[in-house]
Amino acid sequence: MENKKVYLNGEYLPLSEAKVSVLDRGFLFGDGVYEVIPAYFGRLFCFDAHLERLNKSLQAVRIDLKLSAEQWLDILQPLLIQGDVQYIYLQISRGVASKRDHAFPENCTPTIFAMCSPITAFPKDVGVKAITLDDMRWELCNIKATTLLANILLRQQAVEKQCAEAILIKNGYATEGAASNVFAVINDVLVTPPKTDDILLGITRDVVIRLAKENNMQLKEEPISLGALQDATEIWMTSSMREILPVINLDNKPVGTGQIGEFCLSMQAYFQDYKRAVL
Ligand SMILES: Cc1ncc(COP(=O)(O)O)c(C=O)c1O
Repeated sequence: MENKKVYLNGEYLPLSEAKVSVLDRGFLFGDGVYEVIPAYFGRLFCFDAHLERLNKSLQAVRIDLKLSAEQWLDILQPLLIQGDVQYIYLQISRGVASKRDHAFPENCTPTIFAMCSPITAFPKDVGVKAITLDDMRWELCNIKATTLLANILLRQQAVEKQCAEAILIKNGYATEGAASNVFAVINDVLVTPPKTDDILLGITRDVVIRLAKENNMQLKEEPISLGALQDATEIWMTSSMREILPVINLDNKPVGTGQIGEFCLSMQAYFQDYKRAVL
C-alpha cells in the first residue's frame, strides 16, 4: 500500500496507520459527506466554493461541525505536494457511536479524514463514450453524501459497456452523470439542467456557466429531454477530476459529427486560461 501521510482526527499519519472504528457511522451506514478539491501546483482550486458546498452538505445531514476557512486550510495544506496536479479527498462522518442504531447517537464527535492523491489526467483531446441509464438514486442528490451505492452501480454499468460515464435520466429528462454534471449544445445554445435537488451543484459546472457568460456563449439552465440529448450536436461532462470531458458517442451513436465540437474546444481553452489566472 502507498504509505503517504493522511489526516485523521487531528493527526497526520502514514496511510497504513490511519484507522477508524468499525462502529464509525461512515463505515456502518455511509452516514457522512465529502468533498473533492483539485489542487494545481500546490494550490487549492475554487477552495471557497468547495467549502461553501461542504458546509451546506454538513448542515443538510445535520452534522454539527463548523470550522473556519483558515482552520480547514491549516488541516489540508500540509497534505499538498508542491508542483503536482492533485486532489484532496475530505470526508466527514457523523462519528463513532457506542452501538449500531439508525437514529443519531448523542454526543458523537465527527470523524474527519483527508488525503491527497494525484489526478490521473483524462486526455482532453479524445472524446469518450457514454450511456444513458435510469436515474434510480434518492431525492437529495444536491447533498455530497458518502452514501454512493447507486452512483457506483451506475458507473460500473457504464464501465462494463466500455463507457466513461453514465448520463442519468429521470422522468424523461437528463439530470447529471454518475459522478459529473452534463452540458449539451442544442441549436447552438449551451444547455445544462437547472439547479434542483436532482443534481449535485458541481463547482466545475459553476465555473463553466460563468465562463460561458463572460465569453458570450449563449447558455440556458433548463431541462434537457432524452430526445434533445440524443439530437444534441455536443455533449460534455464536467467534474473536478475530469474538468470538461467531451462525449462523442452516446448509446452507441455518434454525438453530432462524432468529433469533439467547437463549443467544447473553446470552453476547454477558457477553462485552462481561468485556471492559470486564479492560481
Ligand atoms: C453526482 C455528481 N455530480 C456532479 C459532480 C461534479 O462536481 P464537481 O464539479 O464539484 O467535481 C460530481 C463530482 O464528483 C458528482 O459526483
